Amino acid sequence: MKDTNAMKDTRTKNDTIRNAESTITRDRDDERARPLQDVESGWLSYQPETEENEGGGTVEERKRMSMAQICSHGDHPEKDPYRSHVMPLYQTSTFGFETAEAGAKFFAHEAGGASHSYSRLGNPTVERAEQVIADLETFGMEERGEGMLFGSGMAAIVTGMMGLAMGKRILAQEALYGCTSQFLQEQAEGLGIRVTHVDVSDLAQVEEALTRYDDIALIYLESIANPTMRLADVEAIVALARGARHPIRVMVDNTFATPYHVRPLELGADLVVHSTTKYLNGHGTVVGGALAAREGFFASSGMAVWRKNLGGISGPFDAWLTLLGLKTFPLRMKKHSENGMRVARFLEGHPAVERVYYPGLESHPDVTLAERMMENGFGGMMAFELRGGLEAGEALMNRVKVPTLAVSLGTVDSLIQHPASMTHSVVLPEVRKHAGITDGLVRLSVGIEEAEDLIEDLREALEAVGDA
Ligand SMILES: Cc1ncc(COP(=O)(O)O)c(C=O)c1O
Repeated sequence: MKDTNAMKDTRTKNDTIRNAESTITRDRDDERARPLQDVESGWLSYQPETEENEGGGTVEERKRMSMAQICSHGDHPEKDPYRSHVMPLYQTSTFGFETAEAGAKFFAHEAGGASHSYSRLGNPTVERAEQVIADLETFGMEERGEGMLFGSGMAAIVTGMMGLAMGKRILAQEALYGCTSQFLQEQAEGLGIRVTHVDVSDLAQVEEALTRYDDIALIYLESIANPTMRLADVEAIVALARGARHPIRVMVDNTFATPYHVRPLELGADLVVHSTTKYLNGHGTVVGGALAAREGFFASSGMAVWRKNLGGISGPFDAWLTLLGLKTFPLRMKKHSENGMRVARFLEGHPAVERVYYPGLESHPDVTLAERMMENGFGGMMAFELRGGLEAGEALMNRVKVPTLAVSLGTVDSLIQHPASMTHSVVLPEVRKHAGITDGLVRLSVGIEEAEDLIEDLREALEAVGDA
């Protein structure tokens, strides 16, 4: 049951939020620019606001929730006029106001106004997906999380970087997803963002850069780097950032690892980014992105206003598909990870394979860190090089039948691709080489097929390549 005082608190908070959201007032960095449902109307109360009334329950209740429950029940609307079992799709650009006063109150930030105005500013379906992702990224934490959904992972990344580092410097990991790398190397400077790259596996390099530059506002990492599979020690890097002379935020792309294996916020990071195109949606039906942070971050950092005005939002249908995919997220991740380990071991033992990069293998340079930082296994992503180099890699990709030869990753079916000529072709060859993205590297996203089917297919293809 909802407590009336809690509702009052909620109303006050909602009003504050509306103030920040309005399109007719100046943007205010100190408030969160996202309208919430009108809790008093009781019509739809998806959006948790206080300890007492929040949909996710109290901290204690939330802590008892498994990831499976967060995901499988995450899209249950609490109050729907038709008692819809799953979250309805609000495929609408704008929301009618019951009365002119309700609309005016929304824009004047007064109590009793409408809950939603326009889908760039807030949409119930999108907000539901945002909360599930935030709940996953803050799983087990005392603090509640908040999320933002975007039209792509790149929209989330660039919004995050612009919001946190305009006019300042980003200290970035060397090996990054190709378009992130290209943005940092070719476009960020024109937007007034200076960039320095370091090999984050060497903490001394991070420390040295933090001492050398006093304009660093953001450290940007991938928890597991695409495609080199090197791990960033998020906890240690956060500790270095906190020791700096001025405030530095840490933003982590958690696309490869997902919150099933690594939760950067728990390790002290400020902002997590995802290409939801990948494991969170999981079915290859959406291009999307997300940011997740501790509650209050989007308002205090001004990120809400950046998202609103850059406008890279998610459409409601993509959000709905993401919610659908999220329902089975832990189940899928368990199988991805089990298959990942088996396929990695098989590849490592094959005579045609030169090297396998998978964080669960003893041969991985970051295996100790992986054991400390990752839980529930080591995921479904890997990269490998064949003894026959690029030519053999290409022959293998043309021969395999179970994985689809395609970019992207994290789908229920396996995908295989060649970073140097595909996902990372936009990165300059010398930069690729320096970051460890060799021409012979093949990237495999292991799906949830039977591991035996995958292994058999790879064995046949490798034998054929060996004979070629
Ligand atoms: C690690 C990583 N981050 C970000 C992105 C960008 O995401 P999107 O393609 O959804 O814009 C990708 C895309 O492959 C990726 O692999």
